[in-house]
Amino acid sequence: MNHTSRKRRPDPSLSRTDSLSSEMLSPTKSPALTRIRIRNLFLLLLLVCVVIYLIFSFSPLRRTQFPSLARSLGLSPTRRRHLLFSIASSHDSWLRRSSYVRLWYSPESTRAFVFLDRGGFESDLSLPPLVVSEDVSRFPYNFPGGLRSAIRVARIAKEAVDRDDKDVRWFVFGDDDTVFFVENLVRVLSKYDHRKWWYIGSNSESFDQNVRYSFDMAFGGGGFAISGSLARALSKVMDSCLMRYSHMYGGDSRIFSCLAELGVTLTHEPGFHQIDVRGSLFGLLCAHPLSPLLSLHHLDAVDPLFPKMNRTEAMAHLIRASNVDSSRVLQQSVCYDSSNSVTVSVVWGYAIQVYEGNKLLPDLLSIQKTFYTWRRGSGVRSNYMFNTREVPRDRCGRPLEFVLDNVGSDGTRGTWSNYTRYIVENCRRADSIKHLKQVRVLSHKLELDVEQMKAPRRQCCDISPSYKESMVISIRQCMEDELIAMKS
Ligand SMILES: *[C@@H]1O[C@H](CO)[C@@H](O)[C@H](O)[C@H]1NC(C)=O
Ligand SMILES: *[C@@H]1O[C@H](CO)[C@@H](O)[C@H](O)[C@H]1NC(C)=O
Repeated sequence: MNHTSRKRRPDPSLSRTDSLSSEMLSPTKSPALTRIRIRNLFLLLLLVCVVIYLIFSFSPLRRTQFPSLARSLGLSPTRRRHLLFSIASSHDSWLRRSSYVRLWYSPESTRAFVFLDRGGFESDLSLPPLVVSEDVSRFPYNFPGGLRSAIRVARIAKEAVDRDDKDVRWFVFGDDDTVFFVENLVRVLSKYDHRKWWYIGSNSESFDQNVRYSFDMAFGGGGFAISGSLARALSKVMDSCLMRYSHMYGGDSRIFSCLAELGVTLTHEPGFHQIDVRGSLFGLLCAHPLSPLLSLHHLDAVDPLFPKMNRTEAMAHLIRASNVDSSRVLQQSVCYDSSNSVTVSVVWGYAIQVYEGNKLLPDLLSIQKTFYTWRRGSGVRSNYMFNTREVPRDRCGRPLEFVLDNVGSDGTRGTWSNYTRYIVENCRRADSIKHLKQVRVLSHKLELDVEQMKAPRRQCCDISPSYKESMVISIRQCMEDELIAMKS
Protein backbone atom coordinates (compact mmCIF):
# COMPACT_ATOMS: atom_id res chain seq x y z
CA MET A 1 0.00 0.00 0.00
CA ASN A 2 2.75 2.22 0.92
CA HIS A 3 4.33 1.24 -2.34
CA THR A 4 1.30 2.02 -4.56
CA SER A 5 0.55 5.32 -2.95
CA ARG A 6 4.10 6.33 -3.66
CA LYS A 7 3.71 5.30 -7.26
CA ARG A 8 0.61 7.36 -7.78
CA ARG A 9 1.75 10.47 -6.05
CA PRO A 10 4.68 11.84 -7.95
CA ASP A 11 3.36 12.36 -11.48
CA PRO A 12 1.98 15.91 -11.25
CA SER A 13 4.96 17.18 -9.32
CA LEU A 14 7.43 15.76 -11.84
CA SER A 15 6.38 18.30 -14.41
CA ARG A 16 7.09 21.18 -12.03
CA THR A 17 10.68 21.99 -12.35
CA ASP A 18 10.85 23.93 -9.10
CA SER A 19 9.83 20.95 -6.98
CA LEU A 20 12.16 18.50 -8.67
CA SER A 21 15.39 19.25 -7.04
CA SER A 22 14.11 19.42 -3.47
CA GLU A 23 12.27 16.11 -3.82
CA MET A 24 15.28 14.54 -5.44
CA LEU A 25 17.27 15.19 -2.34
CA SER A 26 14.74 13.58 -0.08
CA PRO A 27 16.28 10.41 1.40
CA THR A 28 12.89 8.83 2.13
CA LYS A 29 12.06 8.06 -1.55
CA SER A 30 12.43 4.55 -2.94
CA PRO A 31 15.40 3.87 -5.29
CA ALA A 32 13.14 3.10 -8.29
CA LEU A 33 11.24 6.36 -7.99
CA THR A 34 14.49 8.27 -7.58
CA ARG A 35 15.80 6.71 -10.77
CA ILE A 36 12.69 7.78 -12.69
CA ARG A 37 13.03 11.29 -11.38
CA ILE A 38 16.70 11.45 -12.27
CA ARG A 39 15.89 10.29 -15.77
CA ASN A 40 13.16 12.89 -16.14
CA LEU A 41 15.41 15.59 -14.82
CA PHE A 42 18.09 14.51 -17.24
CA LEU A 43 15.65 14.66 -20.16
CA LEU A 44 14.48 18.09 -19.10
CA LEU A 45 18.04 19.40 -18.88
CA LEU A 46 18.75 17.95 -22.29
CA LEU A 47 15.70 19.73 -23.69
CA VAL A 48 16.82 23.04 -22.15
CA CYS A 49 20.29 22.60 -23.66
CA VAL A 50 18.84 21.88 -27.10
CA VAL A 51 16.61 24.96 -26.92
CA ILE A 52 19.53 27.18 -25.89
CA TYR A 53 21.64 25.69 -28.66
CA LEU A 54 18.91 26.34 -31.25
CA ILE A 55 18.41 29.92 -30.10
CA PHE A 56 22.07 30.74 -30.40
CA SER A 57 22.77 28.94 -33.65
CA PHE A 58 19.85 30.37 -35.60
CA SER A 59 19.50 33.88 -34.26
CA PRO A 60 21.58 36.90 -35.27
CA LEU A 61 22.60 37.16 -31.61
CA ARG A 62 25.02 34.35 -32.21
CA ARG A 63 28.30 35.87 -33.26
CA THR A 64 28.11 39.50 -34.11
CA GLN A 65 25.97 40.78 -31.31
CA PHE A 66 27.05 38.60 -28.48
CA PRO A 67 30.12 40.60 -27.38
CA SER A 68 28.31 43.94 -27.61
CA LEU A 69 25.34 42.37 -25.86
CA ALA A 70 27.61 41.39 -23.01
CA ARG A 71 29.06 44.84 -22.97
CA SER A 72 25.66 46.48 -22.98
CA LEU A 73 24.66 44.56 -19.89
CA GLY A 74 26.96 46.81 -17.94
CA LEU A 75 27.88 49.63 -20.26
CA SER A 76 26.07 52.07 -22.45
CA PRO A 77 28.34 53.85 -24.94
CA THR A 78 30.47 56.65 -23.51
CA ARG A 79 29.11 60.10 -24.40
CA ARG A 80 30.27 63.67 -24.03
CA ARG A 81 28.31 64.09 -20.82
CA HIS A 82 30.29 61.27 -19.19
CA LEU A 83 33.45 63.38 -19.29
CA LEU A 84 34.14 66.05 -16.68
CA PHE A 85 36.89 68.50 -17.61
CA SER A 86 38.83 70.32 -14.91
CA ILE A 87 40.92 73.21 -16.14
CA ALA A 88 43.78 74.59 -14.08
CA SER A 89 43.93 78.36 -14.41
CA SER A 90 44.74 81.36 -12.28
CA HIS A 91 43.26 84.78 -11.72
CA ASP A 92 46.10 86.35 -13.67
CA SER A 93 45.93 84.17 -16.76
CA TRP A 94 42.20 83.49 -17.03
CA LEU A 95 41.10 86.56 -18.94
CA ARG A 96 43.71 86.03 -21.62
CA ARG A 97 43.39 82.26 -21.85
CA SER A 98 39.61 82.00 -21.67
CA SER A 99 39.56 82.70 -25.42
CA TYR A 100 41.12 79.25 -25.94
CA VAL A 101 38.66 77.50 -23.61
CA ARG A 102 35.75 79.19 -25.39
CA LEU A 103 36.86 77.51 -28.63
CA TRP A 104 36.30 73.93 -27.46
CA TYR A 105 33.83 74.31 -24.59
CA SER A 106 30.14 74.23 -25.33
CA PRO A 107 27.76 75.08 -22.48
CA GLU A 108 25.08 72.66 -23.73
CA SER A 109 27.21 69.56 -24.09
CA THR A 110 30.53 69.88 -22.25
CA ARG A 111 30.83 69.46 -18.48
CA ALA A 112 33.75 71.49 -17.21
CA PHE A 113 35.02 73.59 -14.31
CA VAL A 114 37.82 76.10 -14.23
CA PHE A 115 39.84 76.13 -11.00
CA LEU A 116 41.28 79.50 -10.00
CA ASP A 117 43.45 80.68 -7.10
CA ARG A 118 40.98 83.49 -6.43
CA GLY A 119 37.72 84.68 -7.91
CA GLY A 120 36.40 88.08 -8.85
CA PHE A 121 35.10 87.43 -12.35
CA GLU A 122 31.58 87.97 -13.53
CA SER A 123 29.93 84.79 -14.63
CA ASP A 124 29.94 84.16 -18.37
CA LEU A 125 27.59 81.49 -19.62
CA SER A 126 29.70 80.76 -22.69
CA LEU A 127 32.51 79.60 -20.39
CA PRO A 128 32.69 76.82 -17.78
CA PRO A 129 31.72 77.69 -14.19
CA LEU A 130 34.61 79.02 -12.10
CA VAL A 131 35.66 77.33 -8.86
CA VAL A 132 38.06 78.79 -6.32
CA SER A 133 40.52 76.11 -5.17
CA GLU A 134 40.73 75.21 -1.50
CA ASP A 135 43.54 76.54 0.68
CA VAL A 136 46.68 74.40 0.33
CA SER A 137 49.09 76.41 2.48
CA ARG A 138 49.51 73.52 4.92
CA PHE A 139 51.31 71.41 2.28
CA PRO A 140 55.10 71.76 1.91
CA TYR A 141 56.75 72.83 -1.37
CA ASN A 142 60.49 72.84 -1.77
CA PHE A 143 61.41 72.47 -5.42
CA PRO A 144 64.11 75.13 -5.90
CA GLY A 145 62.77 77.99 -7.99
CA GLY A 146 59.46 76.24 -8.61
CA LEU A 147 55.94 77.51 -8.08
CA ARG A 148 53.82 76.57 -5.05
CA SER A 149 50.75 76.69 -7.29
CA ALA A 150 51.74 73.16 -8.36
CA ILE A 151 50.14 71.87 -5.15
CA ARG A 152 46.86 73.59 -5.90
CA VAL A 153 46.94 72.29 -9.48
CA ALA A 154 47.60 68.71 -8.36
CA ARG A 155 44.83 68.90 -5.80
CA ILE A 156 42.30 69.74 -8.53
CA ALA A 157 42.33 65.98 -9.17
CA LYS A 158 40.89 65.57 -5.68
CA GLU A 159 38.62 68.60 -5.55
CA ALA A 160 37.00 67.76 -8.90
CA VAL A 161 36.15 64.26 -7.66
CA ASP A 162 34.98 65.42 -4.24
CA ARG A 163 32.29 67.53 -5.91
CA ASP A 164 30.57 64.19 -6.39
CA ASP A 165 28.94 65.03 -9.72
CA LYS A 166 26.76 62.24 -11.04
CA ASP A 167 27.54 59.92 -13.90
CA VAL A 168 31.16 60.92 -14.47
CA ARG A 169 33.04 58.13 -16.21
CA TRP A 170 36.20 60.08 -16.94
CA PHE A 171 37.88 62.98 -15.20
CA VAL A 172 39.89 64.95 -17.74
CA PHE A 173 42.51 67.49 -16.68
CA GLY A 174 44.19 70.26 -18.63
CA ASP A 175 45.51 73.81 -18.48
CA ASP A 176 43.83 77.01 -19.59
CA ASP A 177 46.00 76.98 -22.71
CA THR A 178 45.03 73.43 -23.63
CA VAL A 179 42.58 73.05 -26.49
CA PHE A 180 40.70 69.74 -26.40
CA PHE A 181 39.07 67.98 -29.34
CA VAL A 182 36.18 66.69 -27.27
CA GLU A 183 34.47 64.48 -29.85
CA ASN A 184 37.69 62.58 -30.48
CA LEU A 185 38.40 62.28 -26.79
CA VAL A 186 35.01 60.68 -26.21
CA ARG A 187 35.73 58.22 -29.01
CA VAL A 188 39.21 57.33 -27.81
CA LEU A 189 38.16 56.92 -24.18
CA SER A 190 35.41 54.55 -25.21
CA LYS A 191 38.18 52.05 -26.02
CA TYR A 192 38.65 51.70 -22.27
CA ASP A 193 36.39 50.47 -19.47
CA HIS A 194 35.98 53.37 -17.07
CA ARG A 195 35.15 50.96 -14.24
CA LYS A 196 38.74 49.75 -14.33
CA TRP A 197 41.71 51.89 -13.29
CA TRP A 198 43.09 53.89 -16.20
CA TYR A 199 45.56 56.79 -16.37
CA ILE A 200 45.66 57.93 -19.99
CA GLY A 201 47.76 60.67 -21.52
CA SER A 202 51.01 61.34 -23.27
CA ASN A 203 54.49 62.50 -22.40
CA SER A 204 56.51 65.35 -23.89
CA GLU A 205 57.77 65.65 -27.47
CA SER A 206 61.11 66.57 -25.94
CA PHE A 207 63.31 63.65 -24.96
CA ASP A 208 65.09 65.77 -22.37
CA GLN A 209 61.85 66.89 -20.74
CA ASN A 210 60.89 63.24 -20.35
CA VAL A 211 64.30 62.43 -18.85
CA ARG A 212 63.72 65.25 -16.41
CA TYR A 213 60.13 64.48 -15.42
CA SER A 214 59.52 60.85 -16.46
CA PHE A 215 58.70 59.05 -19.65
CA ASP A 216 55.68 57.57 -17.89
CA MET A 217 54.12 60.81 -16.71
CA ALA A 218 51.13 62.31 -18.47
CA PHE A 219 52.28 65.89 -19.02
CA GLY A 220 49.55 68.07 -17.58
CA GLY A 221 49.26 70.67 -20.31
CA GLY A 222 48.73 68.04 -22.99
CA GLY A 223 45.78 66.93 -20.92
CA PHE A 224 45.10 63.49 -19.50
CA ALA A 225 42.19 61.35 -18.36
CA ILE A 226 41.67 59.31 -15.23
CA SER A 227 38.86 56.76 -15.11
CA GLY A 228 36.10 57.45 -12.58
CA SER A 229 36.98 54.52 -10.35
CA LEU A 230 40.67 55.41 -10.25
CA ALA A 231 39.95 59.10 -9.68
CA ARG A 232 37.81 58.26 -6.66
CA ALA A 233 40.62 56.15 -5.22
CA LEU A 234 43.13 58.92 -5.93
CA SER A 235 41.04 61.57 -4.22
CA LYS A 236 41.17 59.61 -0.98
CA VAL A 237 44.96 59.41 -0.85
CA MET A 238 45.93 62.65 -2.59
CA ASP A 239 46.64 64.69 0.52
CA SER A 240 49.04 62.13 1.91
CA CYS A 241 50.91 62.11 -1.42
CA LEU A 242 51.10 65.92 -1.37
CA MET A 243 53.02 65.67 1.90
CA ARG A 244 55.47 63.14 0.43
CA TYR A 245 56.22 64.76 -2.95
CA SER A 246 57.02 68.29 -1.84
CA HIS A 247 60.37 68.09 -3.66
CA MET A 248 58.77 67.79 -7.09
CA TYR A 249 58.22 70.59 -9.57
CA GLY A 250 54.73 70.39 -11.06
CA GLY A 251 51.18 69.36 -10.37
CA ASP A 252 51.38 66.62 -12.97
CA SER A 253 54.44 65.10 -11.23
CA ARG A 254 52.47 64.92 -7.98
CA ILE A 255 49.52 63.19 -9.62
CA PHE A 256 51.82 60.81 -11.48
CA SER A 257 53.65 59.91 -8.23
CA CYS A 258 50.45 59.31 -6.33
CA LEU A 259 49.06 57.11 -9.11
CA ALA A 260 52.36 55.21 -9.15
CA GLU A 261 51.88 54.54 -5.43
CA LEU A 262 48.43 53.20 -6.22
CA GLY A 263 50.21 50.80 -8.57
CA VAL A 264 48.98 52.39 -11.80
CA THR A 265 51.06 53.18 -14.86
CA LEU A 266 50.44 55.50 -17.79
CA THR A 267 48.62 54.33 -20.90
CA HIS A 268 49.96 56.37 -23.81
CA GLU A 269 47.53 57.92 -26.25
CA PRO A 270 49.46 59.73 -28.96
CA GLY A 271 46.70 62.24 -29.72
CA PHE A 272 47.46 64.31 -26.58
CA HIS A 273 50.01 67.00 -27.35
CA GLN A 274 51.98 68.74 -24.66
CA ILE A 275 53.79 70.78 -27.37
CA ASP A 276 57.10 71.37 -25.61
CA VAL A 277 58.48 73.20 -28.64
CA ARG A 278 58.47 76.75 -29.95
CA GLY A 279 58.11 78.32 -33.36
CA SER A 280 56.13 76.77 -36.18
CA LEU A 281 54.15 73.57 -35.58
CA PHE A 282 53.78 73.00 -39.32
CA GLY A 283 56.14 70.01 -39.43
CA LEU A 284 54.70 68.44 -36.31
CA LEU A 285 51.08 68.75 -37.44
CA CYS A 286 51.88 67.52 -40.97
CA ALA A 287 52.92 64.11 -39.65
CA HIS A 288 50.40 63.48 -36.90
CA PRO A 289 50.23 59.93 -35.52
CA LEU A 290 47.64 57.62 -37.03
CA SER A 291 45.34 58.31 -34.11
CA PRO A 292 42.68 60.94 -33.43
CA LEU A 293 43.85 64.43 -32.46
CA LEU A 294 42.96 64.94 -28.77
CA SER A 295 44.62 68.14 -27.63
CA LEU A 296 47.07 70.95 -28.39
CA HIS A 297 48.86 72.97 -25.75
CA HIS A 298 51.32 75.87 -25.28
CA LEU A 299 49.53 77.85 -27.94
CA ASP A 300 51.04 81.14 -26.80
CA ALA A 301 54.54 79.74 -27.28
CA VAL A 302 54.07 78.73 -30.89
CA ASP A 303 53.25 80.64 -34.07
CA PRO A 304 49.60 80.85 -35.10
CA LEU A 305 48.69 77.55 -36.76
CA PHE A 306 47.68 79.27 -40.01
CA PRO A 307 49.33 82.20 -41.80
CA LYS A 308 47.67 85.62 -41.73
CA MET A 309 45.61 84.83 -38.62
CA ASN A 310 46.16 85.46 -34.93
CA ARG A 311 46.44 82.48 -32.58
CA THR A 312 42.80 82.30 -31.58
CA GLU A 313 41.52 82.75 -35.11
CA ALA A 314 43.89 80.10 -36.40
CA MET A 315 42.82 77.61 -33.75
CA ALA A 316 39.18 78.37 -34.49
CA HIS A 317 39.92 77.60 -38.14
CA LEU A 318 41.26 74.13 -37.25
CA ILE A 319 38.29 73.52 -34.97
CA ARG A 320 35.91 74.39 -37.82
CA ALA A 321 37.47 71.55 -39.77
CA SER A 322 37.19 69.21 -36.80
CA ASN A 323 33.51 70.09 -36.49
CA VAL A 324 33.00 68.75 -40.00
CA ASP A 325 35.02 65.54 -39.58
CA SER A 326 36.70 65.29 -36.20
CA SER A 327 38.28 61.85 -36.63
CA ARG A 328 39.93 62.90 -39.86
CA VAL A 329 41.46 66.17 -38.73
CA LEU A 330 45.29 66.07 -39.11
CA GLN A 331 45.20 62.55 -40.56
CA GLN A 332 47.78 62.20 -43.29
CA SER A 333 47.31 60.44 -46.62
CA VAL A 334 49.85 60.35 -49.42
CA CYS A 335 49.05 59.98 -53.09
CA TYR A 336 51.03 59.75 -56.29
CA ASP A 337 50.66 60.90 -59.88
CA SER A 338 53.03 58.62 -61.75
CA SER A 339 52.48 60.19 -65.17
CA ASN A 340 53.80 63.55 -63.94
CA SER A 341 55.98 62.13 -61.18
CA VAL A 342 54.31 64.10 -58.39
CA THR A 343 53.83 63.12 -54.74
CA VAL A 344 51.17 64.78 -52.59
CA SER A 345 50.90 64.64 -48.82
CA VAL A 346 47.40 65.55 -47.62
CA VAL A 347 46.91 66.44 -43.97
CA TRP A 348 43.17 66.73 -43.77
CA GLY A 349 41.81 69.96 -42.32
CA TYR A 350 45.24 71.55 -42.20
CA ALA A 351 47.69 71.53 -45.09
CA ILE A 352 48.87 69.90 -48.29
CA GLN A 353 52.39 69.55 -49.64
CA VAL A 354 53.06 68.85 -53.30
CA TYR A 355 56.49 67.36 -54.07
CA GLU A 356 58.18 66.96 -57.40
CA GLY A 357 59.31 63.38 -57.93
CA ASN A 358 58.66 60.14 -56.13
CA LYS A 359 58.83 60.52 -52.36
CA LEU A 360 58.68 57.26 -50.44
CA LEU A 361 55.97 57.10 -47.81
CA PRO A 362 58.17 56.42 -44.76
CA ASP A 363 60.18 59.57 -45.53
CA LEU A 364 57.01 61.66 -45.48
CA LEU A 365 56.02 60.24 -42.10
CA SER A 366 59.03 61.75 -40.35
CA ILE A 367 58.60 65.18 -38.86
CA GLN A 368 60.02 68.29 -40.53
CA LYS A 369 61.85 70.35 -37.96
CA THR A 370 60.03 73.64 -38.41
CA PHE A 371 60.18 74.26 -34.63
CA TYR A 372 62.90 74.67 -32.05
CA THR A 373 63.49 73.52 -28.50
CA TRP A 374 61.33 74.42 -25.54
CA ARG A 375 64.30 75.22 -23.34
CA ARG A 376 66.53 77.97 -24.57
CA GLY A 377 70.23 78.50 -24.15
CA SER A 378 73.45 76.76 -25.05
CA GLY A 379 73.80 73.09 -24.20
CA VAL A 380 70.14 72.43 -24.94
CA ARG A 381 69.93 69.44 -27.24
CA SER A 382 67.17 69.11 -29.77
CA ASN A 383 66.34 65.48 -29.16
CA TYR A 384 62.77 64.52 -29.79
CA MET A 385 60.62 61.47 -29.23
CA PHE A 386 60.15 60.94 -32.98
CA ASN A 387 62.13 60.90 -36.20
CA THR A 388 62.78 64.30 -37.67
CA ARG A 389 64.15 65.67 -40.93
CA GLU A 390 65.61 69.07 -41.67
CA VAL A 391 63.64 71.63 -43.66
CA PRO A 392 65.73 72.70 -46.67
CA ARG A 393 67.04 76.24 -46.09
CA ASP A 394 66.41 77.03 -49.73
CA ARG A 395 62.67 77.57 -50.26
CA CYS A 396 62.97 76.11 -53.73
CA GLY A 397 64.06 72.80 -52.25
CA ARG A 398 60.77 72.55 -50.38
CA PRO A 399 57.46 71.24 -51.69
CA LEU A 400 54.63 73.58 -52.67
CA GLU A 401 52.63 74.31 -49.54
CA PHE A 402 48.88 74.78 -49.34
CA VAL A 403 46.85 75.50 -46.23
CA LEU A 404 43.20 75.00 -45.38
CA ASP A 405 40.99 77.67 -46.82
CA ASN A 406 37.53 76.32 -46.15
CA VAL A 407 35.73 73.11 -45.46
CA GLY A 408 32.18 71.91 -45.81
CA SER A 409 29.90 68.97 -45.95
CA ASP A 410 27.34 67.98 -48.59
CA GLY A 411 24.83 67.23 -45.88
CA THR A 412 25.23 63.45 -46.01
CA ARG A 413 28.59 61.84 -45.36
CA GLY A 414 30.52 63.58 -48.11
CA THR A 415 32.90 66.39 -47.17
CA TRP A 416 35.06 68.72 -49.17
CA SER A 417 37.91 70.87 -48.02
CA ASN A 418 39.92 73.26 -50.03
CA TYR A 419 43.49 74.44 -49.63
CA THR A 420 45.28 77.40 -51.16
CA ARG A 421 48.91 78.07 -51.86
CA TYR A 422 49.94 80.88 -49.57
CA ILE A 423 53.48 81.59 -50.67
CA VAL A 424 54.18 81.76 -54.37
CA GLU A 425 57.95 81.73 -54.37
CA ASN A 426 60.06 82.49 -57.38
CA CYS A 427 61.42 79.01 -58.09
CA ARG A 428 61.80 76.78 -61.10
CA ARG A 429 59.16 74.10 -60.72
CA ALA A 430 58.09 71.23 -62.96
CA ASP A 431 55.57 72.29 -65.61
CA SER A 432 52.91 69.99 -64.22
CA ILE A 433 52.72 71.77 -60.86
CA LYS A 434 54.05 75.27 -61.37
CA HIS A 435 50.64 76.84 -61.94
CA LEU A 436 48.92 75.11 -59.03
CA LYS A 437 47.02 77.52 -56.81
CA GLN A 438 44.46 75.36 -55.14
CA VAL A 439 43.75 71.80 -54.08
CA ARG A 440 40.30 70.50 -53.35
CA VAL A 441 39.92 67.34 -51.29
CA LEU A 442 36.88 65.09 -51.29
CA SER A 443 36.31 62.54 -48.56
CA HIS A 444 33.71 60.80 -46.47
CA LYS A 445 33.20 61.44 -42.81
CA LEU A 446 35.57 59.12 -40.98
CA GLU A 447 33.63 57.11 -38.44
CA LEU A 448 35.92 54.78 -36.58
CA ASP A 449 34.58 52.15 -34.26
CA VAL A 450 36.55 50.80 -31.34
CA GLU A 451 37.97 47.87 -33.30
CA GLN A 452 39.16 50.15 -36.11
CA MET A 453 40.86 52.42 -33.61
CA LYS A 454 42.65 49.47 -32.05
CA ALA A 455 44.03 48.39 -35.45
CA PRO A 456 44.27 51.64 -37.42
CA ARG A 457 45.14 51.76 -41.11
CA ARG A 458 46.09 54.85 -43.09
CA GLN A 459 43.72 55.80 -45.89
CA CYS A 460 44.64 56.08 -49.55
CA CYS A 461 44.02 58.93 -51.97
CA ASP A 462 43.78 59.54 -55.71
CA ILE A 463 44.79 62.60 -57.70
CA SER A 464 42.37 63.52 -60.47
CA PRO A 465 43.95 62.92 -63.89
CA SER A 466 44.44 66.47 -65.12
CA TYR A 467 45.20 69.63 -63.24
CA LYS A 468 46.69 73.00 -63.95
CA GLU A 469 45.71 75.65 -61.40
CA SER A 470 43.47 73.45 -59.36
CA MET A 471 43.92 69.83 -58.31
CA VAL A 472 41.23 67.49 -56.99
CA ILE A 473 42.10 64.69 -54.58
CA SER A 474 39.79 61.99 -53.25
CA ILE A 475 40.54 60.20 -50.02
CA ARG A 476 39.21 56.67 -49.64
CA GLN A 477 39.82 53.43 -47.83
CA CYS A 478 42.78 51.54 -49.27
CA MET A 479 41.99 48.31 -51.05
CA GLU A 480 42.75 44.99 -49.39
CA ASP A 481 46.41 44.71 -50.43
CA GLU A 482 46.99 48.18 -51.86
CA LEU A 483 50.37 49.78 -51.29
CA ILE A 484 50.87 53.49 -50.76
CA ALA A 485 53.53 53.99 -53.38
CA MET A 486 54.01 55.35 -56.89
CA LYS A 487 52.72 52.80 -59.38
CA SER A 488 55.26 52.09 -62.09
C1 LIG B 1 42.30 87.81 -33.00
O1 LIG B 1 41.40 88.21 -33.99
C2 LIG B 1 40.06 88.31 -33.54
C3 LIG B 1 39.18 88.56 -34.75
O2 LIG B 1 39.79 89.43 -35.67
C4 LIG B 1 39.94 89.39 -32.49
O3 LIG B 1 38.61 89.50 -32.03
C5 LIG B 1 40.86 89.02 -31.34
O4 LIG B 1 40.87 90.06 -30.38
C6 LIG B 1 42.27 88.78 -31.84
N1 LIG B 1 43.03 88.24 -30.73
C7 LIG B 1 44.19 88.72 -30.38
C8 LIG B 1 44.84 88.07 -29.22
O5 LIG B 1 44.74 89.63 -30.97
C1 LIG C 1 37.42 76.77 -52.49
O1 LIG C 1 36.50 77.54 -51.77
C2 LIG C 1 36.32 78.83 -52.28
C3 LIG C 1 35.38 79.56 -51.37
O2 LIG C 1 34.21 78.83 -51.16
C4 LIG C 1 35.78 78.77 -53.68
O3 LIG C 1 35.67 80.07 -54.20
C5 LIG C 1 36.72 77.98 -54.54
O4 LIG C 1 36.17 77.81 -55.81
C6 LIG C 1 36.97 76.64 -53.91
N1 LIG C 1 38.00 75.98 -54.68
C7 LIG C 1 37.79 74.86 -55.30
C8 LIG C 1 38.96 74.28 -56.02
O5 LIG C 1 36.74 74.31 -55.30
